[in-house]
Amino acid sequence: MTFSTPQHPTNQHPNNQYPSGQYPSGQYATPPTTSFSAPAILSGSALVKTYGPSTALAGVDIQIRAGESVAIMGASGSGKTTLLHTLAGITSPDSGRVEFQSPGGAVDVTAMNERERSKLRREAFGFVFQQGLLIPELTAIENTALPLMLAGYPRREAEGRAQHWLAALGLAGMETRRIGELSGGQAQRVAIARAQVTGATVVFADEPTGALDSATSDDVMSALLGSTVGQGHALVVVTHDQTVAARCSRIVRVRDGRVLPDASGVVAGAPGAGAAGSTTGTTGVSA
Ligand SMILES: Nc1ncnc2c1ncn2[C@@H]1O[C@H](COP(=O)(O)OP(=O)(O)O)[C@@H](O)[C@H]1O
Ligand SMILES: [Mg+2]
Repeated sequence: MTFSTPQHPTNQHPNNQYPSGQYPSGQYATPPTTSFSAPAILSGSALVKTYGPSTALAGVDIQIRAGESVAIMGASGSGKTTLLHTLAGITSPDSGRVEFQSPGGAVDVTAMNERERSKLRREAFGFVFQQGLLIPELTAIENTALPLMLAGYPRREAEGRAQHWLAALGLAGMETRRIGELSGGQAQRVAIARAQVTGATVVFADEPTGALDSATSDDVMSALLGSTVGQGHALVVVTHDQTVAARCSRIVRVRDGRVLPDASGVVAGAPGAGAAGSTTGTTGVSA
């Protein structure tokens, strides 16, 4: 599918402390290629997280730059989800620091209280999970508009923006379908629309294609890359699928709570390259 930029004028809430305006929608005619000199929009330093006897993160340093897509790979239990959640301000590390570059300057996510972190997650971050965690009783447009409704938008405006995102993700005409009336791939695209509707500058996806066949997985990755990296935003995606990882600009491998040194670094030139010729199926491993 092709991704087209939603036509709404801005993607900003008047009270949005972390607007997307830094990276205006449609600014990039072609996705910017990742540059190692690009500033980190999100960085984790010396992250440690233990759960009782198990060490989920054993001192992780990671930097995510605007406009790049980073695949996090590793065996089940290696700490991928913990890393994702720690970067996203869902989980607090025992030690170490997460810093987010907001338009107003650097903010220390680890120093925020739960209320501040929840505001940051709502306004600056988007989330896509293996099973979209969509509300089955609600329609596609209601699910997509939900983050805006929660942020206080009037229903009409929230649904207007939701409609633009659904259309951009190839779901025009399906707005009023309930989630159960959509295919797995369509439902995942609703989840992507929902993750993007607030103008998130970083989207976190945990096994977003884990439940999809390989063709649908390719489609969903195209939608995910187009709506994030294609807008100059960042995508962090946990995956077991080499084909998915190969479409990202960089792969970070995790083992036993540590990031493995990776000699190759950049994997696939421009984000979105490598779409063709996928032969491997999704593993569907749940972690
Ligand atoms: N909420 C939790 N409570 C207890 N242990 C956890 C929790 N979350 C993760 N762990 C443990 O931390 C380690 C890393 O888990 P996780 O980050 O979920 O790995 P992955 O996503 O790579 O499968 C595992 O040993 C797991 O059992
Ligand atoms: Mg996991």
